[in-house]
Amino acid sequence: MPAARARKVSGRGRDPIVVLGMGHVGLPTALGLAELGWTVFGADDAADKIERLKTGEATFYEPAMQELLTKHLASGNFRPTRDVDAAIAGSKIIFVCVGTPQRDDGAADLSQIEAVARTIALNLNGYKLVVEKSTVPASTAERIKRTIERYARTDSAANGRNGRAHRNGKAREGQPTPRFDVASNPEFLQEGKAIEDFFHPDRIVIGVESDDARALLEDLYRPLGRPIVVTDLATAELIKHSANAFLSTKISFINMISDLCEAVGADVESVARGIGLDPRIGLQFLKAGIGFGGYCFPKDLRALIHLGEEHGVPCGILRGVEDVNLRRVDVFLEKVRHALWVMRGKTIAVLGLAFKPLTDDIREAPALRVVEELIKEGASVRLYDPEAMSNSQQVFPEAPGRVDYCRSAYEAARGAHALLLVTEWDEFRKLNWNKIRDAMEVPVVVDGRNLLDPAAMHEAGFEYSSMGRGTRRAAPVAVRAGRR
Ligand code: UGA
Repeated sequence: MPAARARKVSGRGRDPIVVLGMGHVGLPTALGLAELGWTVFGADDAADKIERLKTGEATFYEPAMQELLTKHLASGNFRPTRDVDAAIAGSKIIFVCVGTPQRDDGAADLSQIEAVARTIALNLNGYKLVVEKSTVPASTAERIKRTIERYARTDSAANGRNGRAHRNGKAREGQPTPRFDVASNPEFLQEGKAIEDFFHPDRIVIGVESDDARALLEDLYRPLGRPIVVTDLATAELIKHSANAFLSTKISFINMISDLCEAVGADVESVARGIGLDPRIGLQFLKAGIGFGGYCFPKDLRALIHLGEEHGVPCGILRGVEDVNLRRVDVFLEKVRHALWVMRGKTIAVLGLAFKPLTDDIREAPALRVVEELIKEGASVRLYDPEAMSNSQQVFPEAPGRVDYCRSAYEAARGAHALLLVTEWDEFRKLNWNKIRDAMEVPVVVDGRNLLDPAAMHEAGFEYSSMGRGTRRAAPVAVRAGRR
């Protein structure tokens, strides 16, 4: 939850802020700023999203978000709006949090960013700081700047988009283009802890070109009391892509080692701990399993590869990272086939559909490929996830006897020939596995996240397999120094 000290410095009395795009980055950012005391317009073109927010309904699941939404609709600090023009015209700082999806060639699709830059240009009624928060390839801030300059100039007499802009400010006909700055302030929020990350970031990166931009952003983030790294625009942009690419590299590295562990009879969790305790390596993001998913890592990796190739910089490392990751679901499914021999006609329970715990997000979730393949191979699936089932129903509609959505893990296990663990929700760790075993037709568990203890599962009577620790042996007796 938000830090108490975060409320000490208030944005009250200052110009409002607008956050453009109410998605997984924009909404937590807007609510975080509202909690810091700023008046924040949460702007989005999508009517349904804004209507739901106005009625106090969080548009996706994120811990602690609903509480902040309720609180700041009531306080008036958070104001959802579809009137993007008016929100821009009425604000000094503009956070750009629109989507940067992936194009067919792997590059980032920046059309939403471009559209936003044009809208800003048409509503430039005084100094504005445009802060790019969406993950974008290096040099995008430069392009935003040029786009705003171009459209502000050519459309200065056009009276705004749809003829509605400038109504909160003065039309600039015959006047010079107001001054503006563009800054890059990449986000490092993890889904499932986005609110916590907003208030307790490891670091804040700001790429700026002017003292005004630097002062405004430092002022905004100072209450958080965290280190601020100040850079130029392209460096800030590249920091974000590099961070995601590096974290993905750690995951694919340990997944490759996981396969090697299986080949030579070693244990990947001990390897991860054995290397991770070296502070130069670090313990985090060395969890082997079914691979990384979500809206960020797969897409950002491809965008960085594309950027490298565009500039003639070989990015073979990143291609390797992607290749390892693409194979993870196959490695997992091979274990399922090995356990079941024939897939057709089998009933398979799948626990976990979200790409990771504490979110209802299923974008690029490994579970999607798993379920698709099971159905293709003629199995019936019984699916359960604490939060992601309604999103999953859009992809795999309920079809009784073939695709069943269940109210609990126990219900999913009923009559199953195998149970697959695909997302490491904490509630799965705490299940009564004797009850699960008794509900199943055949007690086979394939654990794609190494959530459970192999010895305990074998003892409970399961045929259990996991990732990279299949032949775990008893730890050798340690020989203390000096006793040899
Ligand atoms: C990631 C970054 O961690 C954030 O810092 C960044 O802001 C965000 O992308 C973004 O660019 O917006 P997120 O996608 O929410 O955050 O999720 P992560 O917690 O990083 O996990 C990504 C994937 O890697 C998940 O599928 C997860 O299961 C997997 N993972 C993670 C592993 O397989 N092993 C690990 O050790 C860690």
